[in-house]
Amino acid sequence: MKKKVDFLIIGSGVAGLSYALKVAPYGKVCMVTKANEDESNTKYAQGGIAAVMVGTDSYEKHIQDTLIAGDGICDEEVVRMVITESTERVKELIEWGAQFDKNEKGEYDLAREGGHSEHRILHHKDNTGFEIERALLEAVHKHPNIEIFDHHFAIDILTQHHLGKEVNSRTPDIECYGAYVLNLKTNKIETILAKVTLMATGGAGHVYSTTTNPTIATGDGVAMVYRAKGKVEGMEFYQFHPTSLYNPNESPSYLISEAVRGHGGILKTIDGKEFMHKYDERKSLAPRDIVARAIDNEMKTRGDDYVYLDCRHIDKNDFIQHFPNIYQKCLSLNIDITKDMIPVVPAAHYMCGGIKVDKTGLSSIKNLYAIGECSSTGLHGANRLASNSLLEAIVYAHQAAHAGIENAKTTNYCESIPDWDAEGTAHPEEMVLLIQSLREVQTIMSNYVGIVRSDLRLQRAFDRLEILYKENEALYLKTTISPKLCELRNLINVAYIIIKHARQRKESVGLHYSINYPKK
Ligand code: FAD
Ligand code: SIN
Repeated sequence: MKKKVDFLIIGSGVAGLSYALKVAPYGKVCMVTKANEDESNTKYAQGGIAAVMVGTDSYEKHIQDTLIAGDGICDEEVVRMVITESTERVKELIEWGAQFDKNEKGEYDLAREGGHSEHRILHHKDNTGFEIERALLEAVHKHPNIEIFDHHFAIDILTQHHLGKEVNSRTPDIECYGAYVLNLKTNKIETILAKVTLMATGGAGHVYSTTTNPTIATGDGVAMVYRAKGKVEGMEFYQFHPTSLYNPNESPSYLISEAVRGHGGILKTIDGKEFMHKYDERKSLAPRDIVARAIDNEMKTRGDDYVYLDCRHIDKNDFIQHFPNIYQKCLSLNIDITKDMIPVVPAAHYMCGGIKVDKTGLSSIKNLYAIGECSSTGLHGANRLASNSLLEAIVYAHQAAHAGIENAKTTNYCESIPDWDAEGTAHPEEMVLLIQSLREVQTIMSNYVGIVRSDLRLQRAFDRLEILYKENEALYLKTTISPKLCELRNLINVAYIIIKHARQRKESVGLHYSINYPKK
């Protein structure tokens, strides 16, 4: 059975939800999301959203901070567009119901994070993403044109390939007609035809063993577009957050927001000595790539498992007021931040590259747009500036909605797409095979394609991954589809692209650091 909609949105984080609200007045919107409707990276965002909201700040300062963090390879036109839109788009988020903290004077309580020359981060305590997701979901639920289908897993986008035509990366006009989606409540694969499809599937933190991302972050959107021969770029730039809580048995890793360093938290080695001055004059508030690499270096040269974040000098009530969840989380592990330092380690956090899009969010595939973390717009360059991703998502939701509304007026459904053929497939093999392969992918990526890389490590990662790729493709072709199998397939695809792009880049820049090409 086929469903027909004007707009198909894959993913219900800040990107998908804000886009839905914008296109809904112009047609029928179907949003599919693979877990509970609120489960997303968005929900766990702590620090906040960067925007120019007061006269002491300026667009130019925020633009320069973004360009510096991006280490010379941002698309400056895109940076200028996103930052100058920041005020309007954040106001819109507030109109949709998101609340941000204010000070006693009734002004927004703006925080500071690494790489920012000003206090410009709007936040809601230390759970800003939760608040944004809540407000957007409430607004979406009220709209009669939007239907959300939770526990619906998008498997692949539909293109000419599904009409039996050959499609390769040189095919000039690849078109998207919608997606095959596995309804996890019925276990049936549905065909959803759409005039316009939006990929808003978020990041891929689970390609590494240690990540701050929830389990949904398996790079599905990037892998789907790559398989459909769409363009993907910048995947070598995987951002590691410097300070996730060191608690080896916890997955995903709990984040200790960069705003804590913005509030005065200082990084120290296990013997209580400061070290960031050796690496950058901005010390603990240098951009993330620099801080994560410095921590990695200290841990490796000293043989330590973690470093400390010292907050003991910060006023207790002030800390609790700004970071109530972080305070409680630490306390639950017997870490009293007024007396004890917080053990922290870097963890995979944000995918700076992704599906290549233009300024309207259009991918290299016709009728397919991509926004949010799964996209590569040119804003982040080689390293994302803290709290610029929620901003990028809402600005591109606006851009892509305008373009998509026009696009839908002149696009027809492709009725001849066949339904999914499950003929000849057997029940899934033992789960142990999938779990073991997933661990192997994560170990390969963490050991060889992490914060510090080399030609030899990348070659080794490539060779090892090839075996896993072949094994998993064989499994995929002969067994019935399950989310775990698809996610493993997608993570293997994403790992392959990260390694491929890392091998192509013969320099150290931003988040891609290779010992074979020392930074000048
Ligand atoms: P997500 O919010 O991740 O949403 C993706 C959606 O796609 C989910 O609903 C998921 O279930 C769905 N999905 C994925 N694959 C499929 C599939 N195959 N089929 C159907 N549905 C699918 N950024 C900031 O700017 N400021 C911060 O303070 C900040 N803090 C962060 C803290 C943490 C712990 C983390 C993990 C990230 C943080 N980030 C922050 C990054 C930011 O949260 C994300 O980049 C942003 O929320 C991504 O939004 P999105 O809508 O693109 O993706
Ligand atoms: C944080 O709160 O440190 C996360 C901010 C971000 O990833 O942008």
